[in-house]
Amino acid sequence: MLNALSNTSLFSLDSCFEFTGSYDNYKLKRYSFGESMFKGHSMLAPFTAGWQTTDLHPLVIEKSEGSYVYDINGKKYLDALAGLWATSLGGSEPRLVDAAIAQLKKLPFYHSFWNRTTLPSLDLAKELLEMFTARKMGKAFFVNSGSEANDTQVKLVWYYNNALGRPDKKKFIARAKSYHGSTLIAASLSGLPALHQKFDLPAPFVLHTDCPHYWRYHLPGETEEEFSTRLAKNLEQLILKEGPETVIHSYACKIAAFIAEPVMGAGGVIVPPSTYFEKVQAVVKKYDILFIADEVICAFGRLGTMFGCDKYNIKPDLVSLAKALSSAYLPIGAVLVSPEISDVIHAQSNKLGSFSHGFTYSGHPAACAVAIEALKIYKERNIVDQVNKIAPRFQDGIKAFSDSPIIGEIRGTGLILGTEFTDNKSPNDPFPPEWGKFNRVGAYFGAQCEKHGMLVRVAGDNIMMSPPYIISQGEVDELISIYGKALKETEKKVQELKSQRK
Ligand SMILES: Cc1ncc(COP(=O)(O)O)c(C=O)c1O
Repeated sequence: MLNALSNTSLFSLDSCFEFTGSYDNYKLKRYSFGESMFKGHSMLAPFTAGWQTTDLHPLVIEKSEGSYVYDINGKKYLDALAGLWATSLGGSEPRLVDAAIAQLKKLPFYHSFWNRTTLPSLDLAKELLEMFTARKMGKAFFVNSGSEANDTQVKLVWYYNNALGRPDKKKFIARAKSYHGSTLIAASLSGLPALHQKFDLPAPFVLHTDCPHYWRYHLPGETEEEFSTRLAKNLEQLILKEGPETVIHSYACKIAAFIAEPVMGAGGVIVPPSTYFEKVQAVVKKYDILFIADEVICAFGRLGTMFGCDKYNIKPDLVSLAKALSSAYLPIGAVLVSPEISDVIHAQSNKLGSFSHGFTYSGHPAACAVAIEALKIYKERNIVDQVNKIAPRFQDGIKAFSDSPIIGEIRGTGLILGTEFTDNKSPNDPFPPEWGKFNRVGAYFGAQCEKHGMLVRVAGDNIMMSPPYIISQGEVDELISIYGKALKETEKKVQELKSQRK
């Protein structure tokens, strides 16, 4: 058995790595349950390569408890990504479970079409409009995911511009390295090549402007403020390139909307440089371009403010929400719509007979009941203060490893953090691709974390973490300790690989 397994890689995309020798015990443990059941399983697995499901065993999570999850062998992992940046209240909040059960017992489902609806949907919409204070919002539209929220945004903006007699104002600008979801439109908006390749995307109405990653893209001697000024100028150039008449008539500008995550998540945790949003907002305002804040990761405390918009003084026209809205216990998302836009949509729908957009599960009562409870908990427990109390320990503890020779940059704010591995501490010196998928530095690091009982997100040589808001000081210390161990082992591996190249 050992020999048969020793050349087999064990881990999911986020942490594929070939273990040998001293890890065999661990490997055996991982293989001890359901080997024949799960290798070559029946799921077409999201964000997973085919070979992984045919050649490897999936990590099967069975149970959660606070900041931890357990696999089917009973191995315990600190869930340093909160599922997928989502289980803000951890994995065993009884009030969320009770809220779901109570609603399921009373009314497991009713829809929100044709002005029929349910009390939880009405209450949640009201609550969200009250909670979002960066600017006054007019209406909330319910969806089931972040992707659906962003697809809905595009339809709302097109409907709005058609209603205003601006049929040519339909293009969108998003940013390189952004992630807005994986449905057709949301993937088009995203600025990650893997979401486009071989999917015939992005759709032609989407343009991408610069990624605001100062460390990677600033020019020699350029300050953060100067970098932000340059990016805002580039954005303006892109707008003008699409329709030079915009210089005279902002209403004739072909760009309808600009979409941005306050802090970019899946693109590598990219915190905006100083003055970036101030400058970008001035540009979009000048050309009458709507600002969509994709708050799917940032909302409800992640950055140490209730919303990302609060942190960066963003005054959006539209907002996308999901994930922590229900602490991910049930799928739900929402779009917040400014009163100016919702008024126009209402007027147009009066003419047409209906606003013909929605989903069977828009405002699902059980999901809304869980979300209402989550929002109550955020308020009662003063979740923003809680995040601000724990965040410095998390940020400082991990950033203390910045001197590692294999780390290019550690960046983050609040309870979100990214590590980028590069050689020579330079954004321009990635580790050699010929080391192969099993020796990717990020994958190796992720595998060490997993071995020591912690789950992180790995994308290439980027590591991302966004623990639950309920993480305790002791758990943060454990997270830092596992990170440190994994880093030491990864440094050693890099040394080995480098000496083999000589
Ligand atoms: C910023 C952002 N927007 C949208 C999405 C898509 O959300 P979903 O996976 O719920 O469709 C994500 C998912 O990670 C995200 O991070």
